[in-house]
Amino acid sequence: MSADLILAIDQGTTNTKALLVDATGRVLQRASVPNLVTYPQPGWAEQSATTLIEGVQQVIADVVAKHGGADGIAGLAISNQRESIVVWDAATGEPIGPCIIWQCRRSAAKCEALRSKGHAELIEERTGLALDPLFPAGKIAWLLDAMPGARRRAERGELRAGTVDSWLLWQLTGGSVHASDHSNASRTQLFDTAALRWDEELAGLFDIPLSLLPQVRASDSEFGRVAADVTALPPGVPIRAMIGDSHAALFGHGVRTPGTVKATYGTGTSLMTLTPRRVRSAHGLSGTIAWSTAAGVAHALEGNISVSGQAAAFMAQLLGVGDVAALSALAAEDSNGVAFVPALVGLGAPHWRADARGTITGLSLGTEPRHLARAAIEAIAFQVADVFAAMQQDLGTDLSELRADGGASQNALLMQFQADLIARPVTASTAPEVSALGAAALAFEGLGIAASMTDAGKRFTPQMDEARRRGQLNKWHAAIRQTLTQ
Ligand code: G3P
Repeated sequence: MSADLILAIDQGTTNTKALLVDATGRVLQRASVPNLVTYPQPGWAEQSATTLIEGVQQVIADVVAKHGGADGIAGLAISNQRESIVVWDAATGEPIGPCIIWQCRRSAAKCEALRSKGHAELIEERTGLALDPLFPAGKIAWLLDAMPGARRRAERGELRAGTVDSWLLWQLTGGSVHASDHSNASRTQLFDTAALRWDEELAGLFDIPLSLLPQVRASDSEFGRVAADVTALPPGVPIRAMIGDSHAALFGHGVRTPGTVKATYGTGTSLMTLTPRRVRSAHGLSGTIAWSTAAGVAHALEGNISVSGQAAAFMAQLLGVGDVAALSALAAEDSNGVAFVPALVGLGAPHWRADARGTITGLSLGTEPRHLARAAIEAIAFQVADVFAAMQQDLGTDLSELRADGGASQNALLMQFQADLIARPVTASTAPEVSALGAAALAFEGLGIAASMTDAGKRFTPQMDEARRRGQLNKWHAAIRQTLTQ
């Protein structure tokens, strides 16, 4: 039997998924396990690094079992939650602490100290990223400082550090490969995205020994091979692609040249668009590396929203209605003047205010749970609209459309409101796992196999009249101002 399938893993914040796909994007098998996030203190967020690799092992086992074995599997492709970090012992493979995830703000003091010493400009210049605790550099430093003996062990070369792709790769290869790809490295705030190497000066500022960090390779490299007895796969199956999930989604939408914007609606939302060259944002976005292949490095602009789909889940829980589907069913036609700014872990793009906290404005005696439900769903779309506008300002062009993917993109109410707010059509992918498909497409293309993963999608055209649209945006921006000044 010829090996013409890719087993694509999407290691996300709330779920780890696996798809077995062919080069036409046909999904033969799928599996998913949920992941627990814990919040030990306000603004902190972490996961068990061990549970993350166990989840990957589980979904691989489930897919292999459903497929009746590993026949035909040409390799693994990994798309992963970005900016979440693990530090582990090189000899035992044991993590020295939790996986500190992207949403965590525990390194805020470190970032503020660097800002007050005037380093923010240098950091943004080299990495394209605003100095913010979202990014891993401060998180790695925090672990080295907080875990007893960690700094000494790091200096003795006993530890490794990496984003989730590196952690999974280390485990899958039985501790033989410490590598990452350009997309993940570009999110660490330690990587010079012009020179394409770890930056010694930045590592010095954050106090991180460079020896901890992985080798950075093209996103469609053969990163290593699965070791014996680690997964349900036979030893030797190659890991054929690694790429951050948001970047993978852009690839999965079939985008290879500048001009198209996508939004991945996950726990947070990421908007990304390719740029012809490395771009520095003047409107609160990040310059980043989309991916790298034999054709070179593709640059992008990105706007990261820290809490979006999670805002709806949070409100569903607060209102005691169970889940987001129930929240959507409850949501009124209009929020009755209520706005919910879900700054539950601060605000990301385009505001970058780690200290901001959630706000509900416009409450009155007429407010009912259905208005709060509506406000939570609207909050997702309002945040995306702000980043979409910032992207247009940075690019200096009118963007004609938004491509949507991720769990919340299946919510018709949200997608219609999104199209109304940006006054542009929104095309929502009918495949909810575009990140996994994108990683698979990258692996296929790296193998020299043309892949086509895109679907026609479901199109939502704007219907709201301009006066109402302006009124909605004014309500939201007033709430944002209140959030930023409180
Ligand atoms: O930047 C964080 C992002 O990569 C997390 O994605 O899908 O886990 O919400 P997701």
